Amino acid sequence: MRVLDLFAGAGGAALGLHDAGFEHVACVERDASAAATLRAAGFPAVEADVRDLNYAALAGTIDVLWASPPCQAWSSANQHGGPKGEDDIARNGWPWTLRIVRMVRPRWAIFENVKNARAYVERAVLPELRKLYAHVALWVLNAADHGAPQSRTRIFVIAGPRPVQPPASQPRRTMRDAIAVPWDRPSPCVMTNEGKGRPTDPAWWRKLNNASDALALATDGARRKLTLGECATLQTFPEGYPFAGRPEDRYRQVGNAVPPSLAAAVARAVRAAESGVETVLGALPTLASLTERIERVLAAAVALIRRQPPRGVSPDDIDGFVAREAPRLRDLVAAFLSRRSP
Ligand SMILES: C[S@@+](CC[C@H](N)C(=O)[O-])C[C@H]1O[C@@H](n2cnc3c(N)ncnc32)[C@H](O)[C@@H]1O
Repeated sequence: MRVLDLFAGAGGAALGLHDAGFEHVACVERDASAAATLRAAGFPAVEADVRDLNYAALAGTIDVLWASPPCQAWSSANQHGGPKGEDDIARNGWPWTLRIVRMVRPRWAIFENVKNARAYVERAVLPELRKLYAHVALWVLNAADHGAPQSRTRIFVIAGPRPVQPPASQPRRTMRDAIAVPWDRPSPCVMTNEGKGRPTDPAWWRKLNNASDALALATDGARRKLTLGECATLQTFPEGYPFAGRPEDRYRQVGNAVPPSLAAAVARAVRAAESGVETVLGALPTLASLTERIERVLAAAVALIRRQPPRGVSPDDIDGFVAREAPRLRDLVAAFLSRRSP
């Protein structure tokens, strides 16, 4: 499935989509250091302002448009208390994102944002999407339930031609599991200013605003910043991910990112809907080749397991099982069809 990724940052969402088997056509990002990270990670970065590009050539060619419009006006990390007016909203990218969706007409539109944007999204975004798509859903997901050792709640809007089941929750991981910090819960949200540390006043960090606060509490107030690598691990970036720029640029990229594991869970849910059992079985009579029918049934079975994984089975376990077993099943089918003994 071909993806256009808007406001792509350092590629947290892009990595998750890639892990779920999606292919990027372009990742649009205007910040030079984040675009450099995208390039170093092998994504097709377009270093530009989302508003300055002409998307006409992409019309009808995109399966998924993913957008994470910037959200400063709603972010709980600042004191704005929401956008002040239409200008503030325009600066937040939503009107542009909708304009691009109308122009490109992707098969699926997926938007991610902070939960404080929910009221605005319900009022101004969902009605516009309902004019374009048969099914529009809003999910509230916590990264801690989808593979990240970090509590980070985000809203997702999924608009497309078919209904999609939200991803099933996975067992939670703790900060201790991930980065050996003695804190037996998922870390609080990793923020863009994690690298600055926090004031030494205990009253401040007892509020447990972010991952650094949990670190301070867990270590009896001994103060040290979380390293960039620790923040990236809490966000589920793979070790050695090539963040570019000055230290503050890199901390900002990590803090801004959608955890790849969360983006992958959302992407797999959409993929499961695309290869849904009903669609697959409905198409079977039109397929002449027995091999193709068997391939489709196999894909439908995998999609079903992904939609409702057995307890304790992660999406990675399922991918591993499919990678191991599918070739053997194909060989069996080929042997059967050629009437050889398997
Ligand atoms: C919340 S972050 C996106 C995170 C990203 N999806 C990820 O998973 O890593 C928003 C990004 O939008 C970028 N941005 C803001 N306004 C933009 C614009 N008008 N055009 C292009 N990029 C923009 C910011 O530089 C920032 O990297």
